[in-house]
Amino acid sequence: MSSNVNPASAQPLASLDEWEDFLKDKYPEPAPAPARSKPAVGVAPDKQKEEFRVYEAEARPTVREFYRLNHTHQTHDFAVAKRREYLGLNRMSMGIWEAMEYLNQLVDDSDPDTDLSQLQHLLQTAEAMRRDSQPRWMILTGLIHDLGKILCLWGEPQWAVVGDTFATGCAFSDKNVFPQFFAANPDSQIARFQTPNGIYEPGCGLDKVVLSWGHDEYIYHVAKDYLPAEGLAMLRYHSFYPWHREGAYDQFCTPADRELMPWVLKFNTYDLYTKSHEAPDVKALKPYYEELIREFFPEKVRW
Ligand SMILES: [Fe+2]
Ligand SMILES: [Fe+2]
Repeated sequence: MSSNVNPASAQPLASLDEWEDFLKDKYPEPAPAPARSKPAVGVAPDKQKEEFRVYEAEARPTVREFYRLNHTHQTHDFAVAKRREYLGLNRMSMGIWEAMEYLNQLVDDSDPDTDLSQLQHLLQTAEAMRRDSQPRWMILTGLIHDLGKILCLWGEPQWAVVGDTFATGCAFSDKNVFPQFFAANPDSQIARFQTPNGIYEPGCGLDKVVLSWGHDEYIYHVAKDYLPAEGLAMLRYHSFYPWHREGAYDQFCTPADRELMPWVLKFNTYDLYTKSHEAPDVKALKPYYEELIREFFPEKVRW
């Protein structure tokens, strides 16, 4: 991986997963087990802010530049416009396995930490859940959770596809990584967006909050008629680290949102900590997963 960063580049990451390598350094311990976790706070509250800043200081220049672009350009209007652009799901009709192969065209430069293809990451996540005898809907959720990254194939820059998501339309939380980069976001100059609740009512529900745009929101909409609420929360909020690992944005949550958080944390342990260099045998696994897909999804799904 090259350490040179072109500041004007919208694609600073050598691999789409490089930002997650950074997160794994930041959160070296797996997400707390649901039984032990308190509903609103996903990480030990005494974890020092300074400690997080150390990770930021040591982040690769590519990751830093990625977050700078993400925090600068993800405005509330941008997120609303992207929802309008994509969530009509009028682009194509494609089966789930087909979408996995479609996503797999995405070839990243090699990254020493994650030399896995997107398809392999999906299978590793699902297989780890299967080994733990998780429910079938959850294994399927693991299998599809990153399919929203096909946004990259449609010309979206990395900063509009991956990265931890955050709430737009309200004050930027310093529970986000690299909060200093929000100073360049035009929303920082809009007074109604800069109060703790911004344009939302307290307790309105996370569903009402427009998060920064990315692969989570997109796959949630693709799957929303086919999976249970727990699986849909995993899809929609798996990159919402400031919420599920830092306890930010709790003021918008309903009791139902808080009940779903342990599921998102449970999902996170598989997503972030099961990456291994051992490639799954795609051909051998395909029949099992095709049957699982058929159990929940129609043959073709709208994208
Ligand atoms: Fe993801
Ligand atoms: Fe993932």
